[in-house]
Amino acid sequence: MDDLSDLLAKNRAWAAGMVRARPDFFASLVAQQSPRYLWIGCSDSRVPANEIVNLPPGQLFVHRNVANVVVHTDLNCLSVLQYAVDVLRVEHIIVCGHYGCGGVQAAWRGQPVGLVDNWLRHVQDVAARYRGALDGLAGDHEPVDCLSELNVLEQAMHVCRTTIVQDAWRRGQHLIVHGWIYDLHDGLLRDLGITVNGADGIEAKHAAAVEGSVRRHRPS
Ligand code: CO
Repeated sequence: MDDLSDLLAKNRAWAAGMVRARPDFFASLVAQQSPRYLWIGCSDSRVPANEIVNLPPGQLFVHRNVANVVVHTDLNCLSVLQYAVDVLRVEHIIVCGHYGCGGVQAAWRGQPVGLVDNWLRHVQDVAARYRGALDGLAGDHEPVDCLSELNVLEQAMHVCRTTIVQDAWRRGQHLIVHGWIYDLHDGLLRDLGITVNGADGIEAKHAAAVEGSVRRHRPS
């Protein structure tokens, strides 16, 4: 099936099903989108944003890249963020990582993959910052799982520090930044305890969430 006719057939069946369930579904979306949420997640095919929070088209604005990284100068991510905050006026920004992330694993193990190694340097920066705590964790999975969480917390902080979010808070816009992680084993999301609704006390919230993450992964 070189022409991907199977996917096009699946699309027709999906569209027909949506119309059967709600005849005005597509007509209602044509005019405008008004999502309440911006999702910043990993490109991993096993972590499809809309599906895992069970939201239909129109309710989630999405940016995905390898290892859900928010780089201060990434014009792509910043453009998504600015449009979501200033134009769509989303109320929540969710940075979502996942366990078993190939990007985080490669960063942690220093496995060369190619050009993407340069992108994953950002995750290695996170690993370097918490090296002591991560080295204290036992086993193969615990340090990587913990790093996946610490990476979410770090990237959520980057979101908070953008001029876009800082300006929104300064003008009193209702905007909350969240850090979540997804577990491929059971399909469940976990809130990592960083919930930021203003510029005050960000560092303390981040530090508490980091401590909680490291504690959860320590041998009991
Ligand atoms: Co991933």
